[in-house]
Amino acid sequence: MVNGPIVLGVETSCDETSVGIIDGDTRILGHVILSQDVHEVYGGVVPELAARQHLVHLDRVVDRALDQAGLRLGQVDAIAATAGPGLVGALLVGFGWARAAALALGRPLVPVHHMEAHLFAPSLEDREAEPPFIGLLVSGGHTLLLHVPEWGRYELLGETRDDAAGEAFDKVAKLLGLPYPGGRPLSELAVKGDPEAFAFPRPMLRGTDTAGGPGYFDFSFSGLKTAVLQTVTQLHDAGELSERRADIAASFQAAVVDVLVEKTLRAVEHTRCPHVLLGGGVSANRPLRETMAARLDGRGKVYRSSPRLAMDNGAMIARAGRFHLDRSVEPASAPTARPDLPFPGLRRSD
Ligand code: KG4
Ligand code: ZN
Repeated sequence: MVNGPIVLGVETSCDETSVGIIDGDTRILGHVILSQDVHEVYGGVVPELAARQHLVHLDRVVDRALDQAGLRLGQVDAIAATAGPGLVGALLVGFGWARAAALALGRPLVPVHHMEAHLFAPSLEDREAEPPFIGLLVSGGHTLLLHVPEWGRYELLGETRDDAAGEAFDKVAKLLGLPYPGGRPLSELAVKGDPEAFAFPRPMLRGTDTAGGPGYFDFSFSGLKTAVLQTVTQLHDAGELSERRADIAASFQAAVVDVLVEKTLRAVEHTRCPHVLLGGGVSANRPLRETMAARLDGRGKVYRSSPRLAMDNGAMIARAGRFHLDRSVEPASAPTARPDLPFPGLRRSD
């Protein structure tokens, strides 16, 4: 007998069709993540194709996750689904399914913010991954630095002013002729390269930045991407690109990691909160995790997920859904999917 409440989480905000089922102790009972590879041939996510793929596969993914859990849909106590942010057509498929299922079963529907769910992912594998912590959320669409004193209270310290960290990885990977999504292939190529071969800029790390001043906690990656583009063009014209690709990858990655770690340490210093939680797809990056731990030097813990739960997945949606289910705050209006859904409980630090 499984103890409840059993929550089924649905994730379809981008290019993963995923369903996770957790029990009352937030243990994962069933979990399927179907990554859409159709986008690879286009070098990026094609929104219309993403929505169609979700539509084609979602029912199967739900059935498979239920099979793994040994449950029928009728035994689920609540249905959570990503309501945003994300691609509108993709969101509507998963959220629409969840709304219909909740209505048909007479169970609560819990709308979940995708980035808040990334914060919950490490707690599925590590019971200690609980607030207070500094949250660094690094994904394909977002780069957020948060102080999280408790679940549901998120103080925004910094964010990107242009490209997200994952987006920078994807764009530079494309320049180097690597497949999409490029973060993982780029970091694999970087293993063979010299991180000091090229002195790429560390944007927004100027010594003139002062605590509390503008940009002290913010990120910017578009200048770094342009610097890499210039280097790639020069090497290409000189006929030296192919032998320097690994050096470029390693030097670019070192610059991104430096900025992410430095800004996070500023947040640790500023808030006196020593623990750090890494979330989002880029948190699977090994140099990021290792450098963060090394620079924290035992002052605090680094919470993170295994690569499977760092990427987009339904289990983290179920976990975040469980938190909101327990709080049982009635949504202000009929829940609906929104590509620009505001982060619940987020306030900007002054
Ligand atoms: O959180 P996520 O799965 O999806 C979004 O919500 O965007 O993040 C996907 C991003 C992609 O940009 C991908 O290239 C990046 O995470 N990524 C990585 C690594 N694995 C995935 N970036 C750097 N190193 C990795 N090992
Ligand atoms: Zn994500």
